[in-house]
Amino acid sequence: MPLRRAKGWSLLISSICPWCLLSWPFECSAQLIFKNINSVAARDCDKFVVIPCYVSNIETQDTRDLHLNWKFGNTSILTFDGYENKYFRSPLFNSSKISTSDILKGNASLTLKKNEAKEGNYTCTVTELSREGKITVNLKYQASWFSLSETILIIIFPFLTILLFWAQFAILLRKYKSNPMNKKTIVLSTSGILITMIIIIGAILFIPGNYSKTKSYGLIFFVSPTVMPVFLQYYKFKPAIGRTLHAMIIFTVVQALGFVLIMAGLYVTVTECAPKYGPLLISGLAIMTLVELLGLIYMKWLAPLVVGLLEQSVCYLSLLTG
Ligand SMILES: *[C@@H]1O[C@H](CO)[C@@H](O)[C@H](O)[C@H]1NC(C)=O
Ligand SMILES: *[C@@H]1O[C@H](CO)[C@@H](O)[C@H](O)[C@H]1NC(C)=O
Ligand SMILES: *[C@@H]1O[C@H](CO)[C@@H](O)[C@H](O)[C@H]1NC(C)=O
Ligand SMILES: *[C@@H]1O[C@H](CO)[C@@H](O)[C@H](O)[C@H]1NC(C)=O
Repeated sequence: MPLRRAKGWSLLISSICPWCLLSWPFECSAQLIFKNINSVAARDCDKFVVIPCYVSNIETQDTRDLHLNWKFGNTSILTFDGYENKYFRSPLFNSSKISTSDILKGNASLTLKKNEAKEGNYTCTVTELSREGKITVNLKYQASWFSLSETILIIIFPFLTILLFWAQFAILLRKYKSNPMNKKTIVLSTSGILITMIIIIGAILFIPGNYSKTKSYGLIFFVSPTVMPVFLQYYKFKPAIGRTLHAMIIFTVVQALGFVLIMAGLYVTVTECAPKYGPLLISGLAIMTLVELLGLIYMKWLAPLVVGLLEQSVCYLSLLTG
């Protein structure tokens, strides 16, 4: 036991110079020096948590000179007795692990499974012969998955898309005086209701908490129905087909591209603990929304203008070609 050895040292010192012992803890015993890491943030979706503890002045090359203890608050997690080469592990923390060979290099960090690693203060106490030191590290969990601003954008764009879709639907009903019972209006309104419902359910699953399986299903639920506006372009512009064919084709193609980005974004983010490619998903969603906005502008203000211009140019062309 290092403590036994330390006592041996103090006996030796006191026999050589008795007055040394008075000031012994302060002068004869050098302290171990710790790298000053007082807090660590673990992610909620990690399986393991590493609580750092680095000693910068370990001198021994022999683990028999070492003694290490980790505590959570005042309950012991793990004790490594180098002299006896034994571990004592609390049953409350039976996933706790340290690397004996790393301690000689000054790394006394503790690894725990996430379910055993509660937020709070962990104390690492290291003894090397008569030298000792300790450090307390505060463990906190930080939100995982998308950042706050990314989450906000991911939620806002599908809702905007659906709002713009309904605005277009209202214009269609009024402007083209569509019979509410014809096939086009039925297709548009039932799809619209379906998308709205799926998006709301998805949002409820997606919004609360950190990364989890439920949340990732919520995200899929939430953004997948954005494929429907791509197909609905056809139904929206059908009555004016021919005149607005170009606009319809452009809207469909751009929105299909947006949907491809969304699917690619989902693929690379949905199972990631800390996704790097959130912007891919968000740009796909933004394109969807933008096209719906352009569709609305086109329907309300541009279509009559474009149609007028087209008719005029067709008129000029026919005049020119005689
Ligand atoms: C452990 O800490 C709690 C408060 O955090 C204190 O009430 C208790 O007496 C302590 N137990 C021991 C054995 O030090
Ligand atoms: C850890 O302890 C729990 C109960 O406290 C027990 O069910 C589990 O099997 C133990 N795991 C290991 C690896 O010993
Ligand atoms: C220290 O050890 C822990 C695990 O015990 C490991 O995760 C970490 O990377 C090590 N640090 C260095 C600097 O090697
Ligand atoms: C951890 O320690 C810090 C500072 O030493 C203290 O402010 C905080 O209350 C402690 N937290 C817990 C959960 O004991």
